[in-house]
Amino acid sequence: MPERIALIGAGRVGGHLGRRLHKAGWPIVQVYSRTPDKAKSLAAQLGAGYTDDLNAITPDADLYILAVSDDAIGEVTGALRLPPDKLVVHTSGATPSDELHNRFARYGVFYPLQTFSADREPDFSTIPICLFAADTAGYDLLERLARSLGSPFYAVDDRQRFVLHVAAVFVNNFTNHLYQVGEDIAHSEQLSFDLLRPLILETAQKIQTASPAAMQTGPAIRGDAATVERHLAYLAARPEYAELYRMLTKGIKGEMG
Ligand SMILES: NC(=O)c1ccc[n+]([C@@H]2O[C@H](COP(=O)([O-])OP(=O)(O)OC[C@H]3O[C@@H](n4cnc5c(N)ncnc54)[C@H](OP(=O)(O)O)[C@@H]3O)[C@@H](O)[C@H]2O)c1
Repeated sequence: MPERIALIGAGRVGGHLGRRLHKAGWPIVQVYSRTPDKAKSLAAQLGAGYTDDLNAITPDADLYILAVSDDAIGEVTGALRLPPDKLVVHTSGATPSDELHNRFARYGVFYPLQTFSADREPDFSTIPICLFAADTAGYDLLERLARSLGSPFYAVDDRQRFVLHVAAVFVNNFTNHLYQVGEDIAHSEQLSFDLLRPLILETAQKIQTASPAAMQTGPAIRGDAATVERHLAYLAARPEYAELYRMLTKGIKGEMG
């Protein structure tokens, strides 16, 4: 019999991971969300029971997956009362497993290194899962879970996961912010962001097989100082963008620090 899972949190990760685990045949016995409608709606998709009361979380699951906001992990685990043989894992990149260690004998981390949005279906076969468990049986279970999703998986300790999360903020959140800046600049001159989309795609595609350091192009790496100055003159009216431009230009030229 596959181990039974209780899913704590019905946000983006809770929803996508829960549906994928359900599809892979894992019995999800209960969904918890502090928002009753979210718990009910996800539970209906997973054939699970649901609750919005931390005190009513079932003691009958084998694995408890916490998919709540990082800041809520401490509060939620503090309220959980579970038999000592239960495995409790969170899905956070930046949160140390210590937060669980202090409360549970068996604990771990199941961190999918991908960006999840409500309206985009993730392809778990491409998502690296960073695994950690304090005990061998716990790790074996997390490994079987990752395998059943068809995901590549890696044993990653707290420090490595934290470092990966820092790197992920640069390659995902900061890059996406720069897309937003580009969109704002284009729109401010009534130009469509669509004109920039193929460039974004090609930039992401070419670094799939090469180091980003080898793939850099543009005025900063070429040393086209006059072009850089004309860009900065254009951005004078947007000092926050000019500052970003200067800082990134220095980084590309290797002049930071
Ligand atoms: N999204 C990503 O790209 C991503 C990727 C990898 C890992 N993760 C990790 O996965 C975890 C969940 O992230 P997410 O993106 O799924 O977040 P999310 O969509 O914002 O959902 C967060 C969930 O936490 C619940 N929550 C927040 N504060 C709570 C509290 N005090 N008590 C009880 N429940 C609370 C929310 O409940 P309500 O809906 O009622 O507000 C919601 O169900 C985080 O640890 C995050 O670091 C996220």
